[in-house]
Amino acid sequence: MSDLLSKFDPLIAQREALLSTGLTDPFNLVMEKVESPTVAICNGKRTILLGTYNYMGMTFDPDVIAAGKKALDEFGSGTTGSRVLNGTYATHKACEDALKDFYAMDHAMVFSTGYQANLGIISTLAGKDDYIVLDIDSHASIYDGCALGNAEVVPFRHNDIEALEKRLKRIPEGAGKLVVLEGVYSMLGDVAPLKEMVAVSKANGAMVLVDEAHSMGFIGEHGRGVAEAQGVIDDVDFIIGTFSKSVGTVGGFCVSNHPKFEILRLVCRPYVFTASLPPSVVATAATSIRKLMHGADKRAHLWENSRRLHAGLKQLGFTLGTEEPQSAIIAVIMPDLETGAAMWEALLNEGLYVNLARPPATPAGKTLLRCSLCAEHSAEQVGEILAMFGAAGRATGCI
Ligand SMILES: Cc1ncc(COP(=O)(O)O)c(C=O)c1O
Repeated sequence: MSDLLSKFDPLIAQREALLSTGLTDPFNLVMEKVESPTVAICNGKRTILLGTYNYMGMTFDPDVIAAGKKALDEFGSGTTGSRVLNGTYATHKACEDALKDFYAMDHAMVFSTGYQANLGIISTLAGKDDYIVLDIDSHASIYDGCALGNAEVVPFRHNDIEALEKRLKRIPEGAGKLVVLEGVYSMLGDVAPLKEMVAVSKANGAMVLVDEAHSMGFIGEHGRGVAEAQGVIDDVDFIIGTFSKSVGTVGGFCVSNHPKFEILRLVCRPYVFTASLPPSVVATAATSIRKLMHGADKRAHLWENSRRLHAGLKQLGFTLGTEEPQSAIIAVIMPDLETGAAMWEALLNEGLYVNLARPPATPAGKTLLRCSLCAEHSAEQVGEILAMFGAAGRATGCI
């Protein structure tokens, strides 16, 4: 019998080598208690959270929590069914209505996760003989959606407008074309040139899907994302998003103005063949989304946090993923995995949690300490964070 797990031996060896040095496992941290969107107890110690996707700090919003409790009492703990059978409750419809209002769009379809939203929408839109042109740094759920639909996948160099245009021009005449982009790329926290890319895609007869997972709630005048901020939201055919970041719970969605959109509910396998979200989850999502519509002050504070952390880290001597802060994600580039893991542990010991990100999730084989800011981080906390980066950086020789 061949052991089907032996293909993972190199990864097992790398992991064992790293942990044999006595390092705390960076991929097995337990939050023993979560006190707020920005503070948890880890290993018995108060820890500032700088590695969550809780950009707008909605997880402890009293209205959001109350809505979840009410739905739990009124509708029970789960739907035990697909959206197209017994799994659509009034709460699911209310959530889709909140999304339509938030984006000012005609249609909204809620999935059980953002991963499934990409998997479902991309595979249903583009099938065999269709072409998907995508940024090479696209999220795994986008690639998996392409694989599920069996379309021809044509990647182009990250954020390269000319490369996108060249790829589009090479696609045979008459073929179905979908361009898939992200608003904010989550590893380096950089923003896509959507204005130019959407124009190039449309000029070449392609439909456009933008994943705004890391920009919803924060970027754009109404928090609709990078497409809104760059003035092209009306030219985008499909926006994908998630509830697991700014919305502060779990779930995914697609919004669109396409007149035939509703048929997707019947033909999209990751929507049909899975149970719908619990009513408490969609009720918290709906409340959170409606509150995000009025989040201008929070958005302004989050931008302030992002600018301050970026400038402070740069001043300390760290190499960052972007020259200027472009989103709520600030990536600190580490020279290698060992140093990255040592720095991650030193920060944790100081009382700071960040994400350690490594290939294959990261571009160009980079090891990153990914910091994601929250609108609930206070100015004092940002100061504490910078002091901890300074101490950990000096202790590990990073700066
Ligand atoms: C760009 C992007 N799309 C989709 C997802 C999936 O979201 P979810 O956590 O809801 O499955 C993520 C999550 O990391 C993401 O970064």
